[in-house]
Amino acid sequence: MAEHATIPTYKLHDGNTLPAIGFGTYPLKGGDGIGAMVSALEAGYRLLDTAVNYENETEVGEALRRSGLPREEVQVASKLPGRHHGYDDAVASVRGSLDRLGLEYVDLHLIHWPNPSVDKYVEAWRALVDLQKDGLVRSIGVSNFTIEHLGRIIDATGVVPVVNQIELHPRFPQPEMRSAHERLGIRTEAWSPMGKRNAPLEEEVVTAAASRLGVTPGQVILRWHVQLGSLPIPKSANPDRQRQNLDVFGFELTDDEVAAISSLGRYDGRLFGGDPDVHEEM
Ligand SMILES: NC(=O)c1ccc[n+]([C@@H]2O[C@H](COP(=O)([O-])OP(=O)(O)OC[C@H]3O[C@@H](n4cnc5c(N)ncnc54)[C@H](OP(=O)(O)O)[C@@H]3O)[C@@H](O)[C@H]2O)c1
Repeated sequence: MAEHATIPTYKLHDGNTLPAIGFGTYPLKGGDGIGAMVSALEAGYRLLDTAVNYENETEVGEALRRSGLPREEVQVASKLPGRHHGYDDAVASVRGSLDRLGLEYVDLHLIHWPNPSVDKYVEAWRALVDLQKDGLVRSIGVSNFTIEHLGRIIDATGVVPVVNQIELHPRFPQPEMRSAHERLGIRTEAWSPMGKRNAPLEEEVVTAAASRLGVTPGQVILRWHVQLGSLPIPKSANPDRQRQNLDVFGFELTDDEVAAISSLGRYDGRLFGGDPDVHEEM
């Protein structure tokens, strides 16, 4: 296995830890997907983000085994889809994820999306609370929850999610959600951390910082996440970019650079994205 730097970790409020950067696995599938995930593990990633809806949990488990890394050195995070929010459905869903992954426990399991129109996310949360007690899931969290959704599950169970995985990137910096997470002791995890199709890789504030620091625009964006305290999960199928995206702990943006990058954000009061991954009916 290649030499790589150790990734800093965040301590979660349940006592567990997560690496400060994870690896997004959507839409990696099949043999090429396994290859990309093995190469990510070789590059040093120690958190793989999957979901029932990505239909690649089998590939994630296979990549973990092919990497030869000890199970306890790699964290696997998966997600409960909206159609599995009933209590028994949620328990069966997590067991199904474990079967496909070929694992005895998942390190982190999230409710993928609150599906407020179905209004069963509190039930789904109760199931995850019990699955954590049973040891099938080490840590539990949510994704795409608003402040109101967070309030409801915490009031109902007294259990605070360790993370809320939300869309977060320079064009959608989510200051209100980040402050709410800080108040509640929730770690912000960022999906589409680059901004995907709208990645601001050519914006002057990003390229100027990249030239000053001798790094790439992608590294500047990921360093912006790190300095905000956000845990990004970039996806790349390219081994060079995989390595580059982890190599963001040896340089620092100035406060002015961080603020200038945040000001690329558009506050139009709705989700910026539109990725099929977050469709409510799933
Ligand atoms: N919870 C949710 O609802 C939700 C929703 C969406 C996504 N997610 C999760 O978040 C992960 C990441 O999100 P994402 O894949 O949408 O977006 P992303 O990681 O922000 O962007 C991925 C794209 O950026 C490119 N890229 C990666 N590193 C780069 C670099 N250094 N320079 C230039 N381009 C670079 C990749 O291309 P190459 O592969 O060619 O490098 C890929 O096209 C997903 O894989 C998934 O695990 C969760």
